Amino acid sequence: MNFSLSSKPVASTKADCLVIGLPEKGNWPESTTQADEVLGGLIKKLESNGDVTGKNASARTVPLQDAPWDRMVVVGTGKDADRTLQNYRKALIAAVGAVKETPAKSALLALTDTPVTGAEAVSSEAARLKMIGRTLEEHLYSFTGYKSKQPDAPKLNKVSVAAASGGKALKDAFNLGLATGRGMNYTRDLGNTPPNICHPEWLAEQARTLAKENDCIQTEILDEKQMKDLGMNTILAVGQGSAQPPRLIVMEYRGGKADDKPYVLVGKGITFDTGGISLKPGAGMDEMKYDMGGSASVFGAMKVLTEVQPKINVVAVVAAAENMPDGGAARPGDIVTTLSGQTVEILNTDAEGRLVLCDALTYVKKYDPEVVIDLATLTGACIIALGHHATGLLSNNDGLANDLLAAGERADDRAWRLPLWEDYQNQLDSNFADMANIGDRSAGTITAACFLARFTKEYRWAHLDIAGTAWHSGKAKGASGRPVPMLVDYLMSNADN
Ligand code: BES
Ligand code: MN
Ligand code: ZN
Repeated sequence: MNFSLSSKPVASTKADCLVIGLPEKGNWPESTTQADEVLGGLIKKLESNGDVTGKNASARTVPLQDAPWDRMVVVGTGKDADRTLQNYRKALIAAVGAVKETPAKSALLALTDTPVTGAEAVSSEAARLKMIGRTLEEHLYSFTGYKSKQPDAPKLNKVSVAAASGGKALKDAFNLGLATGRGMNYTRDLGNTPPNICHPEWLAEQARTLAKENDCIQTEILDEKQMKDLGMNTILAVGQGSAQPPRLIVMEYRGGKADDKPYVLVGKGITFDTGGISLKPGAGMDEMKYDMGGSASVFGAMKVLTEVQPKINVVAVVAAAENMPDGGAARPGDIVTTLSGQTVEILNTDAEGRLVLCDALTYVKKYDPEVVIDLATLTGACIIALGHHATGLLSNNDGLANDLLAAGERADDRAWRLPLWEDYQNQLDSNFADMANIGDRSAGTITAACFLARFTKEYRWAHLDIAGTAWHSGKAKGASGRPVPMLVDYLMSNADN
C-alpha cells in the first residue's frame, strides 16, 4: 500500500474515490466546501434530501460522473463540540471501512481539516494526521496466510491524505502514525499465528530477524541451560511440562546517549496456556494462543522504534514458555526458588504468567532501568473488572502511572488504574513458602500485581494487564494490536528530539 500526504487543493486532486467529512451542524471543513463546488452543489443536495446526515461515523458512498473522482464517500463527523479524538477515530474507521467496500484503487482522504476538540496534543493537525496514519494501517490489515486459497488482493493500493501543508512536523506525525499502525499489525500477526507455529523458540527467531534487519537492535536469547545456571527457576517450572523449551528473549534498542538509563519493557510470552495440571476448561481454549499478547506488543513497539528511530534507550525482555501438562509438568504444591531468592508455592499452575514474569522482572535490574513496564494477559479477573475497553494499570509510582494513563488518552488506547495497596498482600500468604502464586477469589488482578510487586521494589514499575484489550473474541476474533499505541506514545513523549 502506498500512503502519502498531499498538500494540493482537494478539488484538483484526482483519485478513484474521494473521502470527505460532513459535520452534523455548523461550518463545513474547507475540503468539503471545495468538493461541493466541483460537484455543483451535490453534497448540499444530498444533505437537504436526507441522504447523508453527518451523524458521527455514518458513511455513504455516492457514485459520481464528470468529476475528478469516480465516487465519493461522505463520512459523518458529528457535532464540532462532540468531536473528541475518540469520536474522530470512529469516523476514520467508518471511512476506511467504506472505501474498502468500493472497487477504488486509489483514494484521496480529505478528513484532516475536520477539527477535533481537546488539548493541542490530541486536536492539532499533527495529532489528527498521526491518528489517520495509524487508523489506515490498522484497518486495512488482514491475516490470511493460513487459508489455502488466498482471497483476491485488495484493490486499493494508493491512499493520499490531504494536509494543509507538506511541512516536516506534519510528515513526521503522519509517518509516526503509519509506523504505529504497522507495529500494531506486527503484534497482531504474532498473536494470530497458531500455537503449533508460534512457540518460544519461534518468538526468539522473530527477535533474531528484527536484529538482523535493523542495526539499531541487538538481541540476546537465553536458553534453558543458561536460565538454569542463573537460577531462573520459575520460568523453567512453567515450561517444564512442554516439549517446547522456554526462552528469555532480550532486544536492545539504543537510540539515546550511552549513559541514558533504558526504558525497560517486559512481556509475558506464554505461547499457549492450557493451565498446566490445573487444566483450563475446553471451551474457548484456542484463545489461549494469545497468551503471548504482552510479548507481541513488546515486539510491536520495538518495530516502531526501528522505523522512527527516536533518541531513547529501550530494552525489551520477553519471558517465553508454553504452559502444558505432561508428566514433567509442575504440580500444585511444588515449591520453587525464584531468581530473586524468594520461594513460591505454586498452588495453581494456571497462574503461570506471574511465574515467568517474576524472574524476568528480577533479571532486568541489571539494566539499571529508568522505568520498567510489564505487559501481560495476566488475569481473567481484569476482564471482569474493566471489560474490553481499558487495560488494567497497577504501579508502584504515581508519576509513571499518570504518564501511562495520559499516553493512553492521547492514543485512544486507554488504561485504568487499580490500587496496589499493602492491604491485599496477605492474600498471597503460604504455609510453606515465602508466598503462594494465587490469592483467594477476590481482587484477582490486584493480587496478581501484588505478587509481581514483590520483585520490583528497586525501580519505578508499572504493570499493564491486557487480558481484556489484547484481542477480540467472537466473530471478529483476533489480536487487536493493543496496547502498542499507548506504549509508543509514552516512549515518544520521553525521547529527546
Ligand atoms: N492467561 C490467563 C489469563 C487470561 C484469562 C487471559 C482469560 C485472557 C483471558 C492466566 O494465565 C490465567 O490463567 N489466570 C488465572 C489466574 C487464577 C488461576 C488465579 C485466571 O485468570 O483465571
Ligand atoms: Mn494461566
Ligand atoms: Zn496465562
